[in-house]
Amino acid sequence: MNILILGSGGREHSLAWATMQNPKCDKLIVAPGNAGIAQIAECASISIEDGGAVAEFAGENNIDLVIIGPEAPLAAGVADDLRAAGLLVFGPSASAARLEASKSFTKEICAAVNAPTAAYGHFTDAASARAHVARTGAPCVVKADGLAAGKGVIIAQTRAEAETAIDEMFGGAFGGAGAEVVIEAFMTGEEASFFVLVDGEDVLPIGTAQDHKRVGEGDTGLNTGGMGAYSPAPVMDAAVTRKALDEIVRPTMAEMVRRGTPYQGVLYAGLMIEDGQPRLVEYNVRFGDPECQVLMMRLGAQAFDLIHACAEGRLADAQVTWADDHAMTVVLAAKGYPGSYRKGSEIGGLGTLQEDSFHQMFHAGTSEEAGKVVATGGRVLNATARGATLADARARAYALADRIDWPDGFCRRDIGWRALSD
Ligand code: GLY
Repeated sequence: MNILILGSGGREHSLAWATMQNPKCDKLIVAPGNAGIAQIAECASISIEDGGAVAEFAGENNIDLVIIGPEAPLAAGVADDLRAAGLLVFGPSASAARLEASKSFTKEICAAVNAPTAAYGHFTDAASARAHVARTGAPCVVKADGLAAGKGVIIAQTRAEAETAIDEMFGGAFGGAGAEVVIEAFMTGEEASFFVLVDGEDVLPIGTAQDHKRVGEGDTGLNTGGMGAYSPAPVMDAAVTRKALDEIVRPTMAEMVRRGTPYQGVLYAGLMIEDGQPRLVEYNVRFGDPECQVLMMRLGAQAFDLIHACAEGRLADAQVTWADDHAMTVVLAAKGYPGSYRKGSEIGGLGTLQEDSFHQMFHAGTSEEAGKVVATGGRVLNATARGATLADARARAYALADRIDWPDGFCRRDIGWRALSD
């Protein structure tokens, strides 16, 4: 098969790595890709939020399946354009992608199916939002309704912080994404990420993970896209997983079918678990980044079989073959991230890495300039490893990270601390 993956991050590098191992893959193109992806696949410079341009490129290159990595092209309707052009696609329609692109839509669906989640209010002006906070108090979570590149969620500890967040959002700090605002009650517990494939009716769980969203050790400091992750998530035991499926994911998917907008692709349920009860924090309509990296490390080549079955509506016959293993990824980020950081610094040590099915350095924000790999993003590399235990995976991931010679970078040294006692 000729396969096209859209995206340029560590998520897409890990998807490309797993896909390349599958004997069904004859040719892999990633658009736009990055310096690491370019070592295993062809990279193409196309505008991935332009469905017409992607469809034309796919036609010219005899593409059999398009895998859409990030949320922006999904929300922009690229999957719809590709399907209209007769292409096989992995990823939801724009209507179904509203589960990530509109926080209020997700809350409305949860209310319709009685899925456990935080109480909320939905506002189109600052005065009503402020009045809600005056009534309900803090802490609370103020969310821009639309897509804000992972930045539109503010956990307000006080009423004053909530009011500042409300004023910033309605003041345009997150562009159009903040034109409407959702305010949720603050949930306590432990967070986990739960991933399922869905082909309309059928739901296939493909793994759990926990990531570390804060920049600082001990889960302190500013929020990031994720500084590291591990899989499986110990808090997602069999009972919690069953509740998450029966009370949250399956009812949501059934409601999407009932509304005439069935979901197809990977669904990432961000959950808060307390006393064995999962509650929905948010849905994402894509793989998590860096959670995808640990899932791909564990699934290997079968990941592509599952993605292919999902795209063709064959999940009823698909199954995951799990090894009793663990994986961890450690994010190497540019100093200053998630604030401002320098771009263009050279990354050394990449040529010395011994990569295999237990160790992979996935690239997240790199490009090649004059034969050198340079950092082009905030999150730049993902040192990813697998082992029989989480401690083994951690030792391997940090050993890999420590081979990198990049004075402009840093990583957290405590990824997995909740699940590891030392
Ligand atoms: N790691 C969180 C996310 O991908 O949204």
